[in-house]
Amino acid sequence: MSNKFKAVVIDNQNEKFTREIKEIDQNDLKDGNVLVKIDYSSLNYKDALILNNGGKIVRKFPFVPGIDFSGKVVESEDSKFKKDDHVILTGFRVGEAYFGGFSQFAKVESNFLIKTPKELDNHKAMMLGTAGFTALLCAFAVKAREDLLLGEKVKDVLVTGATGGVGSIAIMILSKMGYDVHAVTGKKDKHEYLKNLGAKNILDRKDFEGESKLLEKGIWDGVVDTVGGPALTKILAQTKSTGIVAACGNAGGIKINTTVMPFIIRGVKLWGIDSSAASIARRVFVWNEASKLIDFEKLKTFTKELTFKELLETYPKLLKGEYFGRAIVNPNK
Ligand SMILES: NC(=O)c1ccc[n+]([C@@H]2O[C@H](COP(=O)([O-])OP(=O)(O)OC[C@H]3O[C@@H](n4cnc5c(N)ncnc54)[C@H](OP(=O)(O)O)[C@@H]3O)[C@@H](O)[C@H]2O)c1
Repeated sequence: MSNKFKAVVIDNQNEKFTREIKEIDQNDLKDGNVLVKIDYSSLNYKDALILNNGGKIVRKFPFVPGIDFSGKVVESEDSKFKKDDHVILTGFRVGEAYFGGFSQFAKVESNFLIKTPKELDNHKAMMLGTAGFTALLCAFAVKAREDLLLGEKVKDVLVTGATGGVGSIAIMILSKMGYDVHAVTGKKDKHEYLKNLGAKNILDRKDFEGESKLLEKGIWDGVVDTVGGPALTKILAQTKSTGIVAACGNAGGIKINTTVMPFIIRGVKLWGIDSSAASIARRVFVWNEASKLIDFEKLKTFTKELTFKELLETYPKLLKGEYFGRAIVNPNK
């Protein structure tokens, strides 16, 4: 291979934040023991924060962002991986502390990687990306009410930030699992889109703003919350006895102002999701379930493929909550 390749590079010199498409060198990839030629990466909310100004997440500059990728092994110092193996990476602080996926090549630790399941391919893997993997983790958390806790059957599941990457894919998965999905969105023009994904009912984001009572009418057996903040406070008060709230996001705020009442009166479970630190065993299980739960033809209809240039034009829309669906990044276009 040529030692030079293309990457998105962010920098912060003299308090001036920049993001550029640059040629970098293989010697710039300092970490890891597996070199991967990247097929695809994807754009997630955290990537948008980092591309904007580092998001108080990236501390060393210049830096190559991109929190996920799929690709083929070029060379590996670990015998678990060999040349041309197809691999997936999400999280493990890649794209935050280690150079990431907005690049034609990446070098990472072998224990951050899993092999792409046979039922998927590298394009499908990044149509899902971190957002899809997180949606799967959240859906399995909600399902745990019936299979792990042997509780009541899950029926009504709420999904917030419904038109976002995690939200959209969560709707597909939960409806495939047989649940009635209630989608919360701030986008009035995307109701048809959400119904087409499998949402049974659409709720306005405004209904989840403002103060909530200690306990409200219990409505939700399960919740996938990508929004956090006051919405999560209200959601906890509206969750039915023994319901599970899978909380993964903060698109609407980081503070929750709840009481013990949902937990001690209704046995509500607040299940935090951190996809970045999921164990390899969990990753292998979840990625292998993906092909059974995802309609990839449908996913394709709300996934845009972006060049690096388009990525830099698109990320601000995510931060403003104006984007919907998924964006896959092709570094080789
Ligand atoms: N814990 C983890 O492992 C993990 C992994 C992936 C993502 N996340 C987090 O999950 C969240 C969603 O990620 P994503 O990639 O799906 O992002 P995304 O595509 O930008 O979706 C976020 C959605 O949230 C809604 N939203 C935006 N601003 C809002 C506001 N101020 N108040 C209420 N709702 C708002 C919008 O949906 P509507 O217009 O439909 O309401 C938006 O589409 C982010 O906070 C992200 O950091 C966490």
